[in-house]
Amino acid sequence: MRDNCGRDITYLRLSVTDLCSFRCRYCMPAQGVPKRGHGDICSLEELAEIARAAVDCGVRKVRLTGGEPLVRRGVLDLCRQVAAIPGVEELCLTTNGAALPRLAGPLKEAGVDRLNVSLDSLRPDRFAHMTRGGRLEDVLQGLRASAAAGFTGTKLNVVLMKGFNDDEIPRFVELSRLYPLEVRFIELMPIGEGKAAQFLPAETVLEVCPGLCPIEGSGVARRFRSPGGRGTVGLIEAMSRRFCARCDRIRVTADGKLKPCLHSDQEIPLRGLHGEALRRAIREGAAAKPEAHRMTETGRSQAGRNMHQIGG
Ligand code: 5AD
Ligand code: SF4
Repeated sequence: MRDNCGRDITYLRLSVTDLCSFRCRYCMPAQGVPKRGHGDICSLEELAEIARAAVDCGVRKVRLTGGEPLVRRGVLDLCRQVAAIPGVEELCLTTNGAALPRLAGPLKEAGVDRLNVSLDSLRPDRFAHMTRGGRLEDVLQGLRASAAAGFTGTKLNVVLMKGFNDDEIPRFVELSRLYPLEVRFIELMPIGEGKAAQFLPAETVLEVCPGLCPIEGSGVARRFRSPGGRGTVGLIEAMSRRFCARCDRIRVTADGKLKPCLHSDQEIPLRGLHGEALRRAIREGAAAKPEAHRMTETGRSQAGRNMHQIGG
């Protein structure tokens, strides 16, 4: 499936809920989000049907996101269904990690190939402040549980924020030396609550840790390794090095709207469509993907929703 700019679209990010067990300051409003009625969110059957249709259209990699996907009841069953779709080469899941002590093993058994775990501070007090009550120890325990369950290639998502976690860059890089993880430093995007926090270019990581050696990039990330390190460091520079030309993804929100681009307010409703009508809506939506975002010029995303309502 190609878009109008010639990009091959092979990656679906499917949000399964906009609820979350944390309230990260740059993502969620303090009061949380009003719980929607049952009918407002796609059923697991609808989500699986959308995934199957997207795979028919050429998607080969699926990521389940949220909100926090592990708070959705039945998520393991959805993992099993998506993993079983012929043509799905990789099933990934993005999580805040809090439920991994309990769910890492079952997720592995359900066919999930790889995990991205969000972790913005390695200091328990800061972590609790940023997540408005999350416990760092749960996430660290979750990382240990996922390694014990056999997950490899786990990525740690660190959103860089000036005056919040920039002093922890060396500790995060050290983590990538000690463990076979990819520590990904992500540039804060001016979307939703993110407009309030302080941007820091990811290039800062290379200034603070000049010993990092460039290795081959992957997807939208520039990658590095500490000499002798077991893991890698990735930089996701959505703001300072716009990577839209290499974008291969479409998104579907938990309420069944196809978003060709994270930062555009363009949404194509998929609910109620089946068979060829559903496939056509997906192909047409993907084709209409904007060439690039304009956040660098305008200082704000046009997404029209908060991150937890789209999926990171
Ligand atoms: N900028 C960058 N990343 C964000 N995320 C949430 N909001 C933002 C933002 N404004 C990240 C989360 C998580 C992933 C799901 O998206 O930290 O790693
Ligand atoms: Fe792709 Fe849109 Fe993100 Fe650019 S802003 S990388 S086009 S999803």
